[in-house]
Amino acid sequence: MTEAAAALLPVVVLISGGGSNLGALIAEQSRWPYRIVAVISNQPGARGLERARAAGIPAQVLDHRAYPDRAAYDLALAAAIDRHDPGLVALAGFMRILTPAFVARYPGRLLNIHPSLLPKYPGLHTHRRALEAGERAHGASVHFVTAQLDGGPVIMQARLPVLPGDSPETLAARVLVQEHRLYPRTVGWFAQGRLRLGGDGQVQFDGVALGAPLDLNALPAVEQV
Ligand code: GAR
Repeated sequence: MTEAAAALLPVVVLISGGGSNLGALIAEQSRWPYRIVAVISNQPGARGLERARAAGIPAQVLDHRAYPDRAAYDLALAAAIDRHDPGLVALAGFMRILTPAFVARYPGRLLNIHPSLLPKYPGLHTHRRALEAGERAHGASVHFVTAQLDGGPVIMQARLPVLPGDSPETLAARVLVQEHRLYPRTVGWFAQGRLRLGGDGQVQFDGVALGAPLDLNALPAVEQV
């Protein structure tokens, strides 16, 4: 390994589906000091596996249906992840609830992207629920993962207006574009050492606790690279 490669944060990405966020993380990794060293999917047919292989990244299927229960699966998943010795595990459309034991194994090193402005709309069908509630703004969040589903400390969000006539599909498509900007930057900042989860459960950015999540579309000009 070259010295430059050794300075790059090894990241394992977990997926279940199309992997468009994985695609964004791959596309942006040359701009940031992280490298995706492996992709693991719980779904054999996940299209994201092809994206990984096309980029020369080892891609593995770990089918949850082959395990008797969640605890057994999560143990196998952790073993598969730990073989790559990652500095960060990034969930990118990984549609499984994780056991507390799994989460506890990666304190401050487990990120997730979720298609809502958390704490609003954890769980599924976020776009439909936001429309049904008459929300005027919606978006996506990247957060540190805790044992609570979609409940960990939020690092950064991308907000967008809900437009008249939006359907869950049109809204989802616009949110996804934002997700693809949001996740690589967050992972990149983590790799640069600018982001960490403090012992008090607060997100720290450049050593200062965040009072509220960062807003991707309202970052100071100096960050707009
Ligand atoms: C993304 O919208 C992601 O935020 C969401 O799944 C989609 C995956 O798309 N994740 C969750 O809902 C997690 N609770 P992708 O496979 O194309 O990246």
